Amino acid sequence: MKIISTPIELKEYLKNENRSIGFIPTMGALHEGHISLIKKAKEQNELVIVSIFLNPTQFLRGEDLDKYPKKDEADKQICKLCGVDILFFPKTDDIYSSDEVSLLAPKVRGYVLEGESRPSHFNGVLTVVMKLLNIVSPTRAYFGKKDAQQLNLISLMVKQFFMSVEIVAVDTVREKDGLALSSRNAYLTPLQRVEALKISTSLRSATAMVMRGILDSELIVANMREILSPLDISYVAILNREFTQISKVELGNSVILVEASVGNTRLLDNIWL
Ligand code: PAJ
Repeated sequence: MKIISTPIELKEYLKNENRSIGFIPTMGALHEGHISLIKKAKEQNELVIVSIFLNPTQFLRGEDLDKYPKKDEADKQICKLCGVDILFFPKTDDIYSSDEVSLLAPKVRGYVLEGESRPSHFNGVLTVVMKLLNIVSPTRAYFGKKDAQQLNLISLMVKQFFMSVEIVAVDTVREKDGLALSSRNAYLTPLQRVEALKISTSLRSATAMVMRGILDSELIVANMREILSPLDISYVAILNREFTQISKVELGNSVILVEASVGNTRLLDNIWL
């Protein structure tokens, strides 16, 4: 596995590359969720590139940028074992300068749900993903359905900026007991970890309601809020795949999303129905 740390070097290395490239952008502290993206990319492409870059612009002041888990050596080993061809590991100065052109998230879809409690978060996500996609020029880029709003906005950016990369959405990987894997799970105490299960339980219960034919969004959300109590809920929302609120679940075209805090740890999860 080749490790490259500057955009110029990576672009130079890829200059005459004609093989298909699968790209997985990450912020490190890799877990089975990231590994499933890498595996999918290995299946579908001749060359696989992973980036590890803790992107400062998507963290708001006071968020966990400084204490975000860092596992550089373990991450390198994981990438090597997964058969990654190139690990792109830039420093902040390699990606950003002091006076920057930047990208703004759409005014509606970028400022609801996650974007409501974290205004400007998606400006940072879109800006860095645009930069990374331009550096790597992949055939396909892989994103987890777990971050459904992020996935939706990146797909929108690619469409609206007429970019030629294919965005591939990958299913959420969970622990055996249902907890969605996240680098932030490392912050949870054993007791909080049990509390956090309310999130996936609420989504399972919503799925069971839909399977019984209960499609009314209000009823489903009320039931989920009851299960989630007493967690600090940021939102429970039922949207269609265009990310518009819907009053009734549309099978094959709906996403139910939750964000709740367990202690100081903000956890996201969702289910696509
Ligand atoms: P990060 O949180 O490291 O996640 C990298 C990718 O892994 C994202 O596409 C995310 O949706 C996916 N992922 C995380 N947990 C997952 C799980 N349990 N199952 C499946 N996929 C999972 O998301 C980011 O980094 C950043 O915002 C980034 C896109 C890299 C831009 O900085």
